[in-house]
Amino acid sequence: MADAAPNYGLDPYVDWLAREGARVVEPGYAADLLTTEVAPWARFGMDGAAVHLKGRGDFCSLFVFELKPGTSSAPKRHLYEETYYVLEGHGSTQIEFPDGTKRGFEWGPKAMFSVPINVAHRHFNSSGRERVRLGCVNNLPLLMNLFHNERFIFDSGFEFAERAGKESYFSGEGDFIPIRPGNHLWETNFVPDLAAVEVYSYADRGGGSSNIKFVLADGVMSGHMSEMPAGTYKKAHRHGPGTHVFTVTGHGYSLLWMEGDKDFERVDWQHGVVFPPCEGQIHQHFNLSAVPSRYLAVGFGNVRYPFTRQKRNTMIGEGGGKKQKSSLCIKEGGHQIEYADQDPRVHAIWLNEMAKAGVEPRMKEFMPA
Ligand SMILES: [Fe+2]
Repeated sequence: MADAAPNYGLDPYVDWLAREGARVVEPGYAADLLTTEVAPWARFGMDGAAVHLKGRGDFCSLFVFELKPGTSSAPKRHLYEETYYVLEGHGSTQIEFPDGTKRGFEWGPKAMFSVPINVAHRHFNSSGRERVRLGCVNNLPLLMNLFHNERFIFDSGFEFAERAGKESYFSGEGDFIPIRPGNHLWETNFVPDLAAVEVYSYADRGGGSSNIKFVLADGVMSGHMSEMPAGTYKKAHRHGPGTHVFTVTGHGYSLLWMEGDKDFERVDWQHGVVFPPCEGQIHQHFNLSAVPSRYLAVGFGNVRYPFTRQKRNTMIGEGGGKKQKSSLCIKEGGHQIEYADQDPRVHAIWLNEMAKAGVEPRMKEFMPA
């Protein structure tokens, strides 16, 4: 028995990656998915890598995939959910339902989509010259650690017909579901251009902020996009892990810290960069560009299906009727630091960065007198 593999403390998701021969990288708090090295990943028929960032949490993982010019991925279906963000290149995704019905949609940079779970799908690079890079946030760690059986996850015949949504959800249309500031939903399966999606005022998050939340393929993964006007920054807040933040427009930086830390971690971001703040790690986003900056956040648990009590409190608020904790002051039991209460270094660092960037600060109207 001395040679037997240890049978305790297992992580079936990580063990599966090893069996796959998949490239796994652990770059720390953030990654640039345009320069992350990828390697052939036979199962998916693409090059790829699992990008394990410090804040990925227990339920989510991030893959980056590359389709070489003129190539397509292997046809695949699986029980886990995934949300794709197109980083580079142009192509299409073809899907086929069990009854033979086919759907297809074409995408380019800044598109986002989710394929309904367990529906067969295949991605195509439509260019003969340029590569495609796709960011893919998924909940495979949850599924693999729950069932620890890859055949069940990749070779189940069960059809989740209710997940397909309307046919128009595959052509870039959707349904707007008004709830309240910060929680308004756009339900669809495919967003052709996140830079062009309508966002709605969410003033409680500070700095003239606006956002839209997504329900994709009726899934439990979350997606939301926020916009910061030029010359502004958001209020700091904290929540659970796994929410992967991708830059959509503009550039800037975020400060991250745990309560009581002397110094801030800093992530500089631009197109291609992604980072998930860690469990309870306070984070604050700063726009340094002369244009509105948008970022896409993809994680686990959403306004429709919060899944965890923590997510329910963060997104909905206790009892469902109160303000969501994500934008409620820490002093009132929430998860946000108001501008009046922030460390003075925060504003000083930003003013200095704005001067270096040559962009006019426009925070006066949002700051306490
Ligand atoms: Fe956040």
